Amino acid sequence: MHTETLLDVATIRADFPILHQDVRPGVPLAYLDNAATSQKPLAVIDAMSDYYLRYNANVHRGIHKLSEEATVAYEGARKRIARFINAASWREIIYTRNTTESINLVAWSWARTNLKPGDVILSTEMEHHSNTVPWQMLAGQTGIEVHYVPVTDAGVLDMTAFDEMLDERVKLVTIMHTSNVLGAIQPVRQIADAAHSVGALILVDGAQSVPHMPVDVQALDCDFFVFSAHKMLGPTGIGILYGRQEILDAMPPFMGGGDMIKRVELSGSQWNDLPHKFEAGTPSIAEAIGFGAAVDYLTKIGMEHIHSHEVAVTAYALDRLAEVAGLRVLGPLKASERGGLVSMVMEDIHPHDIAEVLNHEGIAVRAGHHCAMPLHHRYNLTASTRASFYLYNTFEEIDRLIEGLYKVKEVLVL
Ligand SMILES: Cc1ncc(COP(=O)(O)O)c(C=O)c1O
Repeated sequence: MHTETLLDVATIRADFPILHQDVRPGVPLAYLDNAATSQKPLAVIDAMSDYYLRYNANVHRGIHKLSEEATVAYEGARKRIARFINAASWREIIYTRNTTESINLVAWSWARTNLKPGDVILSTEMEHHSNTVPWQMLAGQTGIEVHYVPVTDAGVLDMTAFDEMLDERVKLVTIMHTSNVLGAIQPVRQIADAAHSVGALILVDGAQSVPHMPVDVQALDCDFFVFSAHKMLGPTGIGILYGRQEILDAMPPFMGGGDMIKRVELSGSQWNDLPHKFEAGTPSIAEAIGFGAAVDYLTKIGMEHIHSHEVAVTAYALDRLAEVAGLRVLGPLKASERGGLVSMVMEDIHPHDIAEVLNHEGIAVRAGHHCAMPLHHRYNLTASTRASFYLYNTFEEIDRLIEGLYKVKEVLVL
């Protein structure tokens, strides 16, 4: 068995109590559903309970000790998240609820204000529904058009088609960094350069990239970049919209209310500075603090190391999956060209049945369309089974996955 990794996985696993449980007596959990949501280390759980136990208060508003402490922790997390993706300024980091809300914010604030009927938003066939549906809703109300770059039979973005579809009518290219089904990693810098050459902006859905590899939004030259804390060891209920400061400055608020204003008169209101202009109402304070702790944890281990570990685990998984007759892996077949996840289909066996048998073996995977119905339809599928890895997954867990798949065949193939 392959065991080379740069990470001390045993030590890392000790930080995640949830991983040390049996799904049924004598059958330990192998958590391979990280693309849906990751587990949380004690450092994150402790940071959040510390806030509730010691300094729970609202932020920005009170001139008392607890509120000051909460504000410092809340804003401090934002600064560390900014550094984590190399944003030029913490003002470019907007707290949202998740990736989905970040994309909706751009659709309803930037696109609705700046685009006119006949303008084109260029998306792709592989997007998560969160990067398809908001644009369809906008198009339905405005006369803006949404075009979709196809994916190839090999499971990568068709860059020839992209070049052909990109023209002066395109005002926004909106694309995922790492596919949550195919695992394919898009050449974001190349796409950003092409988008900018026709005067379009680029939004990158980094929900499956930021948790797993180093990301530098300035080096990628993106205008908007979005991701969720819960997929990167942080809590649910908080995500990020990164935007270039000059673009965010020129955008109208998405939601109105407290905190997003400087001054309110009955005749009208004056908006607050960035990032507060986009953060109406009491925010997710404990969640921001937990997110900051997650980023600290990932930074301490090192995103390069995490990425290398996942490439090694994925390479091992791809090798071993190739042994299973009748099983097909979706997306590119080289681990170095993909993120740490593998979606698969097995001849004549429904993905839900595979997940069910694996669950009995203690292996948590996801079955379904993974919020990418158009992509599954492109390959004449309705669903697939996905195993997705993170820094705490081991080569032994991949072996158990393979054994589980043999069991699937034993149980379900007549
Ligand atoms: C690529 C991608 N984009 C967007 C999302 C949506 O994330 P959230 O549900 O946190 O908004 C997901 C979640 O599965 C995803 O994998």
